Amino acid sequence: MYDVAIIGGGPGGYAAALYAHNFGLSVALIEKDKVGGTCLHRGCIPAKAWLHTADVFTEVAGAADVGVVSSPPVVDWDRARRRKDAVVDQLHSGLNGLMKKRRVDVLAGFGRLAGRGTVDVTAADGAVSRIEAKTVIVATGSVPRAIPGYEIDGDRIVTSDHALDWPQQPQRVAVIGAGAIGAEFASLLADLGSTVHLFEVLDQVVPGVEPGAARVLARALGKKGVQIHTGTAVEPPRVTPTGVVVPFAGESVEVDVVLVAVGRAPVTAGVGLEEAGVGLDRGYVLADRETMLTGAPGVYAVGDIVAGTPQLAHAGFAEGMAAITHIATGVAAPVNYRAIPLVVYTAPEVASVGLTERQARSAGYDVETHDHGIAGVGRAIIKGQTDGLVKIVVQKDGPIVGATVVGPAAGELIHELMYAVGWEALPVEAAAFIHAHPTLAEAVGESLLAASGRSLH
Ligand code: NAI
Repeated sequence: MYDVAIIGGGPGGYAAALYAHNFGLSVALIEKDKVGGTCLHRGCIPAKAWLHTADVFTEVAGAADVGVVSSPPVVDWDRARRRKDAVVDQLHSGLNGLMKKRRVDVLAGFGRLAGRGTVDVTAADGAVSRIEAKTVIVATGSVPRAIPGYEIDGDRIVTSDHALDWPQQPQRVAVIGAGAIGAEFASLLADLGSTVHLFEVLDQVVPGVEPGAARVLARALGKKGVQIHTGTAVEPPRVTPTGVVVPFAGESVEVDVVLVAVGRAPVTAGVGLEEAGVGLDRGYVLADRETMLTGAPGVYAVGDIVAGTPQLAHAGFAEGMAAITHIATGVAAPVNYRAIPLVVYTAPEVASVGLTERQARSAGYDVETHDHGIAGVGRAIIKGQTDGLVKIVVQKDGPIVGATVVGPAAGELIHELMYAVGWEALPVEAAAFIHAHPTLAEAVGESLLAASGRSLH
């Protein structure tokens, strides 16, 4: 009898498995594919490896501007892909090593709830074994969504699962959906020289972020040559001998491949959830935000399957840790959803934490905002990367409730604002600290100063 059986070894499940050692819990981790899940094998990590290749390409292409003379760069797609695989493999073997060290029993197979405290594990050969556990954490993750008319064939019409392993660089690409996945692929493909059309049904790229940040990103993508079609619904495609024709708004464009990036759907079928009494809402699992407990006794849910929480690897990590803490101690240690950073790894990066101005206002806050462009920041000028801004949303006479950073290293810079939002810092408190000069972080420092009512530059 295990203390915990975890179904699914992605970030939510594996974080729970690793964290359990802090409490001396015995753990079985059931995984049908590879420990690491979408994030490590088909998501965050391989995508960021490709984006790094694109960043290096851009840097080399612009090297002459900073006095480094080299030949114009050429993309070695196969080598970039092998390097991406090597990064994934290194992390995968590290993770497997950590599982052994923490004495997690990793069971290969498909897990299914089969009565209270019982999980059936079906191996690839069909053999079923049964394990008993005092509690179960379901962390079965998500898969790319499809849209009507766009039948995913893995060749002409693909999802990010396929795009991360394209055998060669597609020259003409239509990306449908300008969320995090669509924007990141559009950015990297354009940087590497592909022709990209980016379609988004809503009225801005990366619709969840501050409109001003989205404008900076859209401008930067435009400069790379991405043709952006916001507020545009595509119609069903026509596959031709030379490619795929994507019709939209009375026009059409022919591309080699269409990448569908319109969101991810939870994987909850076949896991025995409803039979166990777990509540579902359109496939997502209803779980208590304080404990991650579902409606079924002893059954927890974490990660992308949870209704209403962000589909982000690090949210999954946090939910896995929260579930384990509740299992071990009986005390709720809720995830601080208010201060989870979001990073979109486009060039430039877009990062945010807390509420956007619009979200704050519609939540009833009386807010003021402070914007600071990075064009005057010394380090940004030195790096030749001056597209960007910092925006801080402050409750009037109160704490910082949200922030957005666009620009080089925005994904790192957002973390100081994460503390400000998480600790509900007043601008005057946050502005009291001195940022090193010259750094990109000075843009944040300047914004905090402005928010405190006394700006410098
Ligand atoms: P998403 O939900 O972030 O974006 C999908 C976009 O597609 C939305 O902007 C939506 O308006 C648009 N869309 C939907 N149907 C459409 C249609 N028929 N035509 C045109 N546009 C359409 O989903 P995405 O980008 O697929 O990512 C999935 C999940 O993974 C998200 O929760 C995302 O936050 C997460 N993720 C996070 C990353 C990061 O943090 N860097 C990177 C990749 C994914």
